[in-house]
Amino acid sequence: MKRKLYCLGNWKMNHLVQDALQFCKEIQNVMKSEKTELGIAAQAIHLPLLLENLQKTPVLVGAQNSSEHKSGAYTGEISPEAIKDLGCQFVLIGHSERRQYYGETSQNCLEKIRTALAQNLIVVYCIGETLQEYEAGQTEQVLKTQLNEGLIALLNEQKDLGKIVIAYEPVWAIGTGKVATPEIVAKNLKAIRNHLGSALDAASQLSLLYGGSVKPENIDELMKIEDMDGALIGGASLKAQAFAALFNSIDAK
Ligand code: PGA
Repeated sequence: MKRKLYCLGNWKMNHLVQDALQFCKEIQNVMKSEKTELGIAAQAIHLPLLLENLQKTPVLVGAQNSSEHKSGAYTGEISPEAIKDLGCQFVLIGHSERRQYYGETSQNCLEKIRTALAQNLIVVYCIGETLQEYEAGQTEQVLKTQLNEGLIALLNEQKDLGKIVIAYEPVWAIGTGKVATPEIVAKNLKAIRNHLGSALDAASQLSLLYGGSVKPENIDELMKIEDMDGALIGGASLKAQAFAALFNSIDAK
């Protein structure tokens, strides 16, 4: 089975209404691809606007976080049931900024992923090592632990593996302009797939993305990596032109 490719933007806490509308206007002509899913994860406050203004395009709309609870008395949280009800198709879980600034752990992620999958959302589980861990040569161990604690237990009970995507994002490469070299990305994506393979026969079907300073200038080189099925893109996803260029490069694989 050929794996799905993904070009996913993560707007983080950026863009005001006018910027978001401008993006939607400029991305209208993007063509649907059978191979590649295109999506934007935006702040919750912009999700209705994006859903409305992207409905004639193939661009999926997703949230950047969702609660481990379906709904209820959890002030300030984002309900996965409401995300789904609104019409969103995917959600990011465990982004390193959630882990770093809001104390999210892989155990929290496991619960969030379980609840999001129950809502039939596509989950993009983000993992990656910090600079300190990278320099200490701990990358592979960190990735294995994040997978073991945050995802592995759900793999065998999940019937539709198309709903699970894994994004490898070294923390030291995010927003720093320091993209990981293709050698590093290839090695770590391979390690992730091998580790998933120890828990799941069908690990070769899972789509693996890379994220961290991906730009139109470096994507072609990265997409040559066998295990790389697309990218999670922060800064370069804010402008429609760059995002469309990234999509074309990914779709060319
Ligand atoms: P960046 O962010 O592309 O701006 O480095 C990537 C991410 O955080 O997902």
